[in-house]
Amino acid sequence: MEARAAKPNIQQIRTDAPRDLLKLVVVGHVDHGKSTLIGRLLYDTDSLPEGKLEELKVISQRRGMSLEWSFALDAFQAERDQAITIDTTQIWFKTPKRDVVIIDAPGHREFLKNMVSGAAAADAAVLVIDAAEGVREQTRRHGYLLHLLGVRQVAVVVNKMDLVDYSAQRFGDLVHEVTSYLAGLGLEPSFLLPISARDGDNVAVPSTNMSWYDGPTVLQAFDRFHVLTAPVEQPLRLPVQDVYHFDDRRIIAGRIESGILRAGDTLLFSPSNKIVKVRALEAWNAEPPIEAHAGQSVGITLEEQIFVERGEVISHVENPPPLTSVFRASLFWMGHTPLEPGRRYKLKLATKEANVTAETIERIIDTDSLAPRSGDKVERNMVAEVIFRSREVLAVDEYRSLARTGRFVLLDGYDTVGGGSISLEGYPDQRDALTIRSTNVFSVEHGVTGTSRAERNGHTGGVLWFTGFSGAGKSTLAMEVERRLFQKGYQVYVLDGDNVRRGLNANLGFSPDERAENIRRVGEAAALFADAGFICITAFISPYQADRDRARGAAQRVDTNAFHEIHVHADLATCEERDPKGLYKKARSGEIRDFTGISAPYEPPAAPELTVDTGNESVDDCVAAIIGHIERNFTMKERSGG
Ligand code: ADX
Repeated sequence: MEARAAKPNIQQIRTDAPRDLLKLVVVGHVDHGKSTLIGRLLYDTDSLPEGKLEELKVISQRRGMSLEWSFALDAFQAERDQAITIDTTQIWFKTPKRDVVIIDAPGHREFLKNMVSGAAAADAAVLVIDAAEGVREQTRRHGYLLHLLGVRQVAVVVNKMDLVDYSAQRFGDLVHEVTSYLAGLGLEPSFLLPISARDGDNVAVPSTNMSWYDGPTVLQAFDRFHVLTAPVEQPLRLPVQDVYHFDDRRIIAGRIESGILRAGDTLLFSPSNKIVKVRALEAWNAEPPIEAHAGQSVGITLEEQIFVERGEVISHVENPPPLTSVFRASLFWMGHTPLEPGRRYKLKLATKEANVTAETIERIIDTDSLAPRSGDKVERNMVAEVIFRSREVLAVDEYRSLARTGRFVLLDGYDTVGGGSISLEGYPDQRDALTIRSTNVFSVEHGVTGTSRAERNGHTGGVLWFTGFSGAGKSTLAMEVERRLFQKGYQVYVLDGDNVRRGLNANLGFSPDERAENIRRVGEAAALFADAGFICITAFISPYQADRDRARGAAQRVDTNAFHEIHVHADLATCEERDPKGLYKKARSGEIRDFTGISAPYEPPAAPELTVDTGNESVDDCVAAIIGHIERNFTMKERSGG
């Protein structure tokens, strides 16, 4: 049988403009037509080797089948079986606008290792689904894989539309199902295409069988994907490799990973957060250059002498790298000893080395079947999503926005045990909380001392920081403790999330960055209350340890014993069952996004001063425990004695 759809004449469309390269991964259930689509694409774009089409026709005729496009891949397949590196598994073709290379074979270990560790990257992905069979387990696994690889652009291709009579209804149903699944992974398809790969419908030319569809063809979709920008066009990143002393100059040396650096630029050093101008780019025995680009190694001198060390990242003031002490990694594990939570490793991120602890294993994926595995260890050759934490604040990039500075290697002793890419999904950029923008300010002494306030009140000021899930009982306990302490004559006040978010923090939502700012402000406000001599009780989910630690720091400026973290604990299941505001229900149905415990992280306190378990203890018992704790820590001796 002849191919039904006509071919566009690629030769005519070609221009002399430089063509860019689109790197694609094609995934989907084995029988859903991945190979047929690729074969058809090769044919439609004139990319089949000489004589291959004739050969296909002969084979197909001999087997009594209609033209079998997937045979077109056999040539490439044979090559792949012998291939040792990922490079030889590539399949090339040209669209009217650009060159496309398909990097194939998810599920193959080497592929996953390269992709997850960031050694190879795709611009976009195609997820193929069989219109008749619908979304299968393998489709879901592949969808998850795309999330893991940090692929942002996805075309969902519903294939074999001929088997469902080109039904718009069937297409709509499938699209609904697959988009809600992908949304749960933070992926929004760029294109949703009904096609028949075998007959070429909507592959290179619009289908005449689906007049209800007026979107692009597969090839048009490929031309509309964004190709990742070249490193020179990306924000500047220059990780400091070394600092050399030459005569009286101090030269900072490193390799520009992305962007352009020019003499006279104002630079930001991270994580130290210092801002300095470049005096000059230096050169050995040559005229110093005015600018240097991604890929070049440079030496620079600064207008001011500041302390700089290896591992700092230089950027411009605009577009700096996020700062964080916690991140999520897609990790390929190659250690002989499994990765386990609580274990420490050495992280190498560009020129920076830091100790990190594997905190939580969120998901483990078997690299052969792509099936999720349960377990509390990541074995050799497995892929996993892991949360890492460092003591120091790190300047990182998200792999999906800046690949070169968004990937890392892990060492255990001297052995390389893993490679991965960084995502901050669910975590805030801590830069704002760490940056001091006010200058020329001088602190003023109060006329009343903390001691005189405490003497009059009969207790010192302090912060009782309640943290826990929504519905754990923070507000209930806080208000009851406030009432009882007030009766006992304490100066006491509750700052409560739902109240503060109507006023002081009314301009903040629930994104990771906004939560961090919410807690920063409350931490500072609570410290002021403590300074004013109050017992300040705060009732905020405050999901991030780093934010709570900063609130601790603020209160400790008042008094080293001023801050007490109280974990108001109840299982997520218990909180969800209570659901006092009906929010968990909404979060489960997707009506509320970024909901703590459901679609946003919660980091339980590592070393709280007190834990109360509202799941197993009565309100009265919890209140009594908290009041006891306050009396022991904040009440003046004379008062408790009298
Ligand atoms: S925090 O995470 O920034 O500390 P905060 O304690 O101020 O949160 O506010 C939590 C309250 O806001 C919850 O008790 C709930 O009533 C409401 N809320 C609304 N949207 C969300 C959400 N996405 N996640 C958690 N709580 C939310």
